[in-house]
Amino acid sequence: MTIETGLDGWLRYAPHPAETSNSYRAISNIIVLNKSKTSPVYTAGKEVQDGLRRILGQKIEISGELSGTPSSSVIIGTVEAFSSTCGKIPEIPELKEDGFWLNTHAENDCVHILGENERGAIYGAFEYLMRLAQGNLNHVKSASNPSAPIRWVNQWDNLDGSIERGYAGPSIFFRNGEVVTDMTRVAQFARLLSSIRLNAVVVNNVNANPKLFSKTNLDGLRRIADTMRPWGVRIGISLYFDSPKKFGGLPTSDPLDPAVNDWWKDITAKVYEKVPDLVGYTIKANSEGQPGPLSYNRTLADGANMFARALKPYGDGVVMYRAFVYNHHLDESVWTNDRANAAVDYFKELDDQFEDNVIVQIKWGPIDFQVREPPSPLLANLRKTKGAIEFQVAQEYLGQQSHYVYMAPLWREILDYDMRIDDKPSVIRDIVSGERLNWSRSGYTAVLNIGSDSTWIGHHLSMSNLYAYGRLAWNPLASSVSIIQDWARLTFGLNETIIDTITKISMESWPTYEKYSGNLGIQTLCDIIYTHYGPSPGSQDGNGWGQWTRANAHSIGMDRTVATGSGNAGQYPPEIAAIYENIETTPDDLLLWFHHVPYTHRLKSGKTVIQHFYDEHYEGAAHAQTFPIEWAKLEGLIDDHRFKQTAFKLQYQAGHALVWRDSVNNFYFGKSKIPDGKNRVGNHIWRIEAEDMHLSGYKTVSVTPAEAASCGKAIVTESNTEPGTAQKELSFPTGIYDIAVNYYDHLGGRSKYEIFLNEGSIGFWTGDLQDKLGHDFSEYLDGHSATRITFRGINVQKGDILKIIGQPDGTELAPLDYVSVLPEGTID
Ligand code: GCU
Repeated sequence: MTIETGLDGWLRYAPHPAETSNSYRAISNIIVLNKSKTSPVYTAGKEVQDGLRRILGQKIEISGELSGTPSSSVIIGTVEAFSSTCGKIPEIPELKEDGFWLNTHAENDCVHILGENERGAIYGAFEYLMRLAQGNLNHVKSASNPSAPIRWVNQWDNLDGSIERGYAGPSIFFRNGEVVTDMTRVAQFARLLSSIRLNAVVVNNVNANPKLFSKTNLDGLRRIADTMRPWGVRIGISLYFDSPKKFGGLPTSDPLDPAVNDWWKDITAKVYEKVPDLVGYTIKANSEGQPGPLSYNRTLADGANMFARALKPYGDGVVMYRAFVYNHHLDESVWTNDRANAAVDYFKELDDQFEDNVIVQIKWGPIDFQVREPPSPLLANLRKTKGAIEFQVAQEYLGQQSHYVYMAPLWREILDYDMRIDDKPSVIRDIVSGERLNWSRSGYTAVLNIGSDSTWIGHHLSMSNLYAYGRLAWNPLASSVSIIQDWARLTFGLNETIIDTITKISMESWPTYEKYSGNLGIQTLCDIIYTHYGPSPGSQDGNGWGQWTRANAHSIGMDRTVATGSGNAGQYPPEIAAIYENIETTPDDLLLWFHHVPYTHRLKSGKTVIQHFYDEHYEGAAHAQTFPIEWAKLEGLIDDHRFKQTAFKLQYQAGHALVWRDSVNNFYFGKSKIPDGKNRVGNHIWRIEAEDMHLSGYKTVSVTPAEAASCGKAIVTESNTEPGTAQKELSFPTGIYDIAVNYYDHLGGRSKYEIFLNEGSIGFWTGDLQDKLGHDFSEYLDGHSATRITFRGINVQKGDILKIIGQPDGTELAPLDYVSVLPEGTID
């Protein structure tokens, strides 16, 4: 089996077994109806040639003219180019922009791949190849059209090569302040995007740097655009609002100042000179410290319209103006303050004031890509102004690609939600497509964080999210299950065990993550002040960021009702508002999003809120343990390289899920003092605290937050050069055990550890997760760095001495939290 790095993603075109390839009729010729090398039609021809060679072993020439009566040919072009030579095909219905017609059994054994435009033609070619690659040789004769014209991704890449919320290596676009020279990865990326029918990428971070406008970088943008264009992918850029001041040397960036407007017109002309098909500008303004029109006492519309007017002379360029405008110094002591209100508060009253090429880009939830939120009420509050929904393929709050969470089910839940605008059906996918409110241009965008890593995204399984996003943006009715099945076939192979295992893990991943991270709509209880990764439920409150839970000793949740709270429920159309206003009709999974209740409040299940928290965390963490076991079934069925990398990540996730479980449960037990009805929280009979071991060269330290350590304490070596030893006589009955060591792996060094039973070594490891995982690492002992390693099937005699020797490195002092000696099958 060949080593696969993941670089081809779902476009591996694995060879079919001989029986299948032989049963497929031979293609004699590929005819491309545009031979210019920069045309997506030509690229499509090359791709089909390559795909047929790899999948079916057929070597086929690309030839030219469509003349005479071609037979056994794949004909690729636009509908128009085809009709002008061969006449109209009456069966082809009216296609939308980017749509295509695919007929695999046209007359004379030809395959017709005909796009409404050239982009449509390449989409059709990929459809044809991906069907073949899945062993689907059925006849197809159908048209396919996108649900919406805007199907973009936003990379948050910085000019220095770092990626905000990127977990897979440095940027493929930028390095050291400039656009890279080698465009190899850019072309490969464009190919992936094109295959899932995404038509544009905004290449730089929304927290933008005006140096993007330097002459060198404008040339660089031209290179990126030229590289992506043959794949039908256009580029856009994010703008820094204060560029006229910071880059142009003007005294102000006031959007009503004529000189500022001229500056933007001028720079826009320069950008279009290099990138004549720029797709537009994305703007994050007056958000998280970014300047914007409000900084000049102008409205958000004044700001957006300035860019819109600058773009107008150049075709269809749009301004994607982000609705993510909020005050991050909000005062929590005011009960009615609520960040979730911000988008509607800012944008609703401006509804009729935007130029027609402005689109408001709205995060799917009111706060920030949490594990569960209701849909953003702004999606139901714009009428004249067009909107686009913003998803996040990057798993910023969902385990940062060190945990696997398949997000299609979450996105489907949002897209299927009926907002009941004017008491009429108003399903979000129909709002986003433009159909419900008659918007002429609208659609989808998603924050993406691919980097230079060969996995693109840091976790082989997480690539399913990029694939699913493309599929849903094209057809929001596609089912999460069929998407993951297609993806698994294309990415890993056609074997049923592969498909079933990946489907099972994927479909269970979001509910599992929700269970061990944050329940009942309380949000992902990660550390929101630092890395957004590991658990830190206390970090949500006591600051101005407004991701509050308002947890105190007795009660928890945001009161977002109109009657007694922030009024956020009232921002939804009346039928929806009535549901959330009333605690009885609010679904349990959003209870704490909309209501502040005692921990003893009973849910519809009959459980109290606090018991539900405890139970869900136990269930979720237990379920995460099944993922590596399920995955192990694929050993030998898929290539070893991806098998092992993924096995390692799922094992890591299983260990970290236990960290999540204990941190969150200990935190709320500490706050509420209400014990777990099942007596699990704080009661770990198989656990040995490191601080209770006999220590030499090690000392006990308190961990912050306390719930990130078992009993609030851990041990670290006394020096940063000399090893420490922790040992303990075991009093468990003689038997076979799994021995799990919970330790911390943070930035600053790569400590080494060895574990012994009596004098026999049972294993050793290095604290080098920073080399193996991509999530945002911490410098401290906390919920991000807490992790576990397990040694299985160890024969333990009562009275054996367990010993760990830790060798510190740099500022990482071989930290240890506890050891669990677990009878087989016990999870703790
Ligand atoms: C989140 C994220 C930031 C990002 C912001 C945005 O808050 O943590 O890194 O800049 O969203 O969407 O602009």
